[in-house]
Amino acid sequence: MPAAPGTSKFQIELRRHLRGQNISDNLVHLICEIAEASKYVINAVRTGDLGVAGTSNLYGEEQLALDVLSDRIMRKRLIHSGVVCNIASEEMDEIYQAQASADGLYSVAYDPLDGSSLVDVNLAVGTIVSIYEGCDLLQPGRNQVAAMYILYGPRVSLVYTVGDGVHEFTMNNLMEFTLTRENIRMQEEGNIYAPGGLRNKYNDGDEQFIRHLEAKGCKLRYSGGFVPDINQVLMKGKGIFMYPALKGSPNGKLRVLFELNPMAFIIEHAGGSASNGNIPILDIVPESLDQRAPIYIGCKADVKAATDFLAEHK
Ligand code: AHG
Ligand code: MN
Ligand code: MN
Ligand code: MN
Repeated sequence: MPAAPGTSKFQIELRRHLRGQNISDNLVHLICEIAEASKYVINAVRTGDLGVAGTSNLYGEEQLALDVLSDRIMRKRLIHSGVVCNIASEEMDEIYQAQASADGLYSVAYDPLDGSSLVDVNLAVGTIVSIYEGCDLLQPGRNQVAAMYILYGPRVSLVYTVGDGVHEFTMNNLMEFTLTRENIRMQEEGNIYAPGGLRNKYNDGDEQFIRHLEAKGCKLRYSGGFVPDINQVLMKGKGIFMYPALKGSPNGKLRVLFELNPMAFIIEHAGGSASNGNIPILDIVPESLDQRAPIYIGCKADVKAATDFLAEHK
């Protein structure tokens, strides 16, 4: 059947890719809207103002002009999609109600520009998105119906799961996303590690775990950008990213709703695992929008080893 006028190549490819799965038209439309919004974020990242916005977010982080601009791009697109009920963003202090509760609507939690402070040194950054059915955004991450990220690197890639495998689309020279990898799978054990935070604030269990990784010959691969660092672990299928509890910051740095839940959903559906050191990230019941948690995410054997070291060195 010919595509309806105005249907993007991504929408055609995505519908073909999702055929046979029980995915609502509204969810396909929402994923396509997010993909479209990312093209405007790319433009902002490539040419936008690198200065500060003069405001700070819920976490007391000084917002960059790019944080605010990319947040506005994402929020406007979600509102106009017509299929979104509630919106939460790393850059907004509270939930934004786009529409009153109704059947067939979704709620979205997103980090519009993760790693924004890396743009001025030209390192890769990304947008992270978590999607739930209905209007409740304080659900365990296991209830997500979709999670995705767009990575603005040497190539622009979109990685997503709707719970049936993890797949990658890559932007071509016409700025169209085309399918480039299907059913991406993690291996059981890895050979790279990405240790976030200040090592002189690591607790003993984490320090011993790092020594264990180095003793088995793992290489340190850390860019400071959550999206490229996770993407490297996922695409190589081997490795672990960690941002542990630090002395003085028992919950680490990264945010459950906007960063940990979507990445944990993707990595679990690629055969890896994600823990806060005690329980799976996806089983955390968020009590507030700004909740943070430590994270160990990647190959199952490496995440298990991390939790074992933490248990032994309580
Ligand atoms: P954001 O730019 O959205 O605030 O997130 C930055 C995060 C994440 O990208 C990365 O994993 C982490 O900050 C790096 O933190 P450190 O600089 O403390 O290592
Ligand atoms: Mn930030
Ligand atoms: Mn972030
Ligand atoms: Mn951010």
